[in-house]
Amino acid sequence: MVKVLFVCLGNICRSPMAEAVFKEKVREAGLEERIEIDSAGTGDWHTGNAPHEGTLDILKKNRIEAEGLKARQVQKEDLNQYDYIIGMDAENIGNLTRMKGYSESGEIARLLDFVEDGAEDDVPDPYFTGNFDYVYDLVEEGCTRLLSHIREKEGL
Ligand code: 4NP
Repeated sequence: MVKVLFVCLGNICRSPMAEAVFKEKVREAGLEERIEIDSAGTGDWHTGNAPHEGTLDILKKNRIEAEGLKARQVQKEDLNQYDYIIGMDAENIGNLTRMKGYSESGEIARLLDFVEDGAEDDVPDPYFTGNFDYVYDLVEEGCTRLLSHIREKEGL
């Protein structure tokens, strides 16, 4: 099983969106028995909460399943248990890198680093910008490229 964890700050806007979009792509590819997916936040303010209304709305608009998404805080063990830890922005990457010790083996990367010709490096935080449509487009493209990367690397 290849394990993928999406990480943002609050785990209510961007990373649950990426989790749901990536799950849909993995299902479409028939790889749901091969790739396990979750999301978490570097902060703990929203632990146990459902995603933000803006994330739920955009997922619904795109007919993507949002059932069961629930916020949690990323733990040090996650960095060993997940093969790919995918942050949404440079701040997430900084926080994850500081958490990672010698024994944690997961690869930490930023989602939009897989989109080589993209306009953005960071997925902007819609909690502050309110622009869930733009974030969805970035997350969608990032997830497409990430899945290609994982399929090639893992021989799936
Ligand atoms: P997210 O957005 O990291 O995309 O889930 C945020 C959600 C909540 C907060 C910050 C960012 N907050 O400060 O509560």
